[in-house]
Amino acid sequence: LTPGLVSLLVLFLLQRSNTSLVRLNDNGYEDLVIAIDPGVPEDGKLIEQIKDMVTTASTYLFEATQKRFFFKNVSILIPENWEGSPEYKRPKHESYEQADVRVAAPALPGRDEPYTRQFTECGEKAEYIHFTPDFVLGKKQNEYGPSGRLFVHEWAHLRWGVFDEYNEQKPFYSGKSKKIEATRCSTGITGKNRVYKCQGGSCTENFCKINSTTKLYEKDCQFFPNKVQTEKASIMFMQSIDSVLEFCNAENHNQEAPSLQNIKCNFRSTWEVISNSEDFKNTTPMAAPPPPPVFSLLRISERILCLVLDKSGSMSLYNRLNRMNQAAKYFLLQTVENGSWVGMVHFDSAASVKSELIQIKSDSEKNKLLESLPTVALGGTSICSGIAAAFQVIQKLNPQIDGSEIVLLTDGEDSTTGSCADAVKQSGAVIHLIALGPNADSALFPSYMVLIYKALMTHKHYTLDHHEEGETEDNHTHTQKHKHIHTPNSPPLSIAPVNTKDWHGCLSKKLKKK
Ligand SMILES: *[C@@H]1O[C@H](CO)[C@@H](O)[C@H](O)[C@H]1NC(C)=O
Ligand SMILES: *[C@@H]1O[C@H](CO)[C@@H](O)[C@H](O)[C@H]1NC(C)=O
Ligand SMILES: *[C@@H]1O[C@H](CO)[C@@H](O)[C@H](O)[C@H]1NC(C)=O
Ligand SMILES: *[C@@H]1O[C@H](CO)[C@@H](O)[C@H](O)[C@H]1NC(C)=O
Repeated sequence: LTPGLVSLLVLFLLQRSNTSLVRLNDNGYEDLVIAIDPGVPEDGKLIEQIKDMVTTASTYLFEATQKRFFFKNVSILIPENWEGSPEYKRPKHESYEQADVRVAAPALPGRDEPYTRQFTECGEKAEYIHFTPDFVLGKKQNEYGPSGRLFVHEWAHLRWGVFDEYNEQKPFYSGKSKKIEATRCSTGITGKNRVYKCQGGSCTENFCKINSTTKLYEKDCQFFPNKVQTEKASIMFMQSIDSVLEFCNAENHNQEAPSLQNIKCNFRSTWEVISNSEDFKNTTPMAAPPPPPVFSLLRISERILCLVLDKSGSMSLYNRLNRMNQAAKYFLLQTVENGSWVGMVHFDSAASVKSELIQIKSDSEKNKLLESLPTVALGGTSICSGIAAAFQVIQKLNPQIDGSEIVLLTDGEDSTTGSCADAVKQSGAVIHLIALGPNADSALFPSYMVLIYKALMTHKHYTLDHHEEGETEDNHTHTQKHKHIHTPNSPPLSIAPVNTKDWHGCLSKKLKKK
């Protein structure tokens, strides 16, 4: 194993993910992250308005999807430069980069149009939704209507990869009937076509003229839907119309309109695309109305992290101690962010605190920690002692362990690990496990670690124990060894999610570049 691979592995384990954490559990979306940009001036009303928006969106979404989906719980990520509060917790995996919704100032002042960053194909998830503070605060209601409804429109872009049914570049088209029609869905939406101009405080409304070249209305002509109407579709056209409660479906979809939905989705309706999604296939409609969403308030703060290093006798085999120290060194020098608090614990059959939490401000703190790496491997193995000592180290600075992190490097030759599984789960700490050696066996780890462990082991080219000296591939092929791993369907949230697919993809990309 080359040092390069060790570093990549450490890097990927310890960096916060930038993919969405949203999960659909039964009918409810869980762990949605709405992040407030650090550039947004502190304003408690923003938090209240986000809650209102998601709560009304949840009901609207539920009805619009024929009682299938609602928002179950949401984290609101508060910037570090906002004042702290006892009700704020530390984020675990949530970060600004992976947030599903960002609340940030507009790129150009006054341009408060909400949008979804969507450069993906039909039916694919998009990147994130962008709202401006003024929009969330309800100052743009006249332009965009109620924020809850609008959120559902954007959510459909983000989650199910559907597109707008209006088109500002092509607001009209010539229908089969040879009539000029407004680009819309459904055609049941009534309204009038007018040129509306305001100058010096007075506004005029004129009929639209037809351009003889294009045979369509002149450039400034717009379609104004009637305020009062009965048409229910569609949300991807104009959810702000009171009567609009549904997506266009196969029956009422307007295939003639030059909408992005038609262009990108091969003339299929938004509801057909949604019905084809994994989310839809994995759910059945609910009988009872859903509960309102639950909100967690998380404030970004410096990472609190304790290295827990195995110095038991088996670590002297196959150069493991040295490789562990390399990984720890790489982490300290390359990965740890300035401002983080880092401590260090060693363990064999008992644990010892080698460094209390110190705040990394420069190389001198890093070097101090490097001097504390273990030099001798001797004795039994008690991972739980190591973790208990790390909890004590963390609690000296931060009575709440929740959201802090433990980087555990071990060969896993310990059959007593199960005894602290519950304590770890309940603590809410994030455990990053770096397994060394062929005996870092799944059977010895409690199930909450298995998922990460499996991710490490199945990509055998990237595991730390690949090609240990003195071994042959025949007696230690990873695939064979881990045939019987039972993977829990959903790991507890206290564990860093290692999405094996993304992880693998990331690694191979980086490796290829080299
Ligand atoms: C959301 O609900 C799930 C399941 O009850 C839970 O595991 C998770 O911690 C909750 N997340 C938030 C942010 O409340
Ligand atoms: C009619 O449309 C064409 C093509 O867009 C444009 O070049 C022309 O200026 C338009 N004519 C009028 C009178 O607006
Ligand atoms: C690290 O942070 C400290 C304050 O926490 C600051 O004084 C120092 O300049 C920072 N160093 C770097 C390299 O950014
Ligand atoms: C693996 O097998 C080889 C020969 O088949 C043997 O020499 C070696 O000791 C084995 N390694 C372990 C760790 O069992």
